Amino acid sequence: MNVNRRHLLTGTVGAAAVALTASACASEDGDSGSSGKKVGIAMPTKTSERWIADGDNLKASFEDQGYEVTLQYANDVAADQVSQIETMVGQGVNVLVIAAIDNKSLNGVLAQAKEADVTVIAYDRLILDTPDVDYYTSFDNTKVGTLQGTYIVEKLGLAAGEAGPFNIELFAGALTDNNTKYFFNGAMEVLQPYIDGGQLVVLSGQTALEQVATENWDGAVAQDRMETILTSFYTGGQQVQAVLAPYDGISRGIIAALDGQGYTTMPVVTGQDAEVDSVKYIIDGKQAMTVYKDTRELASVTVDMVVAVLDDKDPEINDDTTYDNGDHVVPAYLLEPVSVDVTNYQAELIDSGYIDEADLA
Ligand code: GAL
Repeated sequence: MNVNRRHLLTGTVGAAAVALTASACASEDGDSGSSGKKVGIAMPTKTSERWIADGDNLKASFEDQGYEVTLQYANDVAADQVSQIETMVGQGVNVLVIAAIDNKSLNGVLAQAKEADVTVIAYDRLILDTPDVDYYTSFDNTKVGTLQGTYIVEKLGLAAGEAGPFNIELFAGALTDNNTKYFFNGAMEVLQPYIDGGQLVVLSGQTALEQVATENWDGAVAQDRMETILTSFYTGGQQVQAVLAPYDGISRGIIAALDGQGYTTMPVVTGQDAEVDSVKYIIDGKQAMTVYKDTRELASVTVDMVVAVLDDKDPEINDDTTYDNGDHVVPAYLLEPVSVDVTNYQAELIDSGYIDEADLA
């Protein structure tokens, strides 16, 4: 199934894919040149389930291929991540796989990595303003936002001609994360025409990315902002009918604020990452949807990429135009995100083995 979905997003596969297959076969024979090779994995935080799974999947897959792995989490503190990476470079890693906390804090340490001939892969979050990032593996991040915006528009009936007006509030992720603007812009492409047409109304008036961003993607920060919005702008009996939320941890913070203000029927609240607690909310009707990104596939394409690069082969990429990091367009492999709600969570999340049904009880 992994393979099928990977090839839904086709691009410049061809010869590179053949090279990749050849290198994968070689490594099964224990002949890939991986022995003695070291990989450093720098993940942002353990406060979110997905990064724990990403780290675990990457570590296990690299070890299967015979690599020695160092895995570090930096608790959302950018300076700590920089020192962790410095230590990894000092330990002589051949490859760094980095999900950056602050996309602009890594230039110095990556220059050191390049001096030491380390291959650098930006994992899910692009690293900006440096020549020293070689490849990017992620999902179609604009589409994540488009799926969220489209879900709202369809659920409220706007796509079918409902006039509303419906009240909506907008949330985005951390400004230090390059993905944030892709998610937000993708969603706003869908929502903005309805805001302009008056069918959607943002009572708080907060529509600029800087106003709606959430520091560290922190659910508690989002909860505070939602509470302030509700107690400042919804004092005359108005109800919120939809909330654009970029990530499940933020969605649950927003839902807590709505709960606290006595909402018994929840607005259409979006999300991302298919975290277990949010899938439970989806089943209970508290959160409307999430965007599922199969992090097992992301780990797998990343490992394939590293194996190819260290074997002096061209890695498989399927996008070489979208992700300009301010220095160069970073060749990328992008996977497809999937919209999940109560109607398809069983097929997408349980049947695929991504979530164990017992964990939802
Ligand atoms: C983004 C990532 C999302 C979500 C968010 C908060 O970079 O693409 O899937 O995990 O960080 O952790």
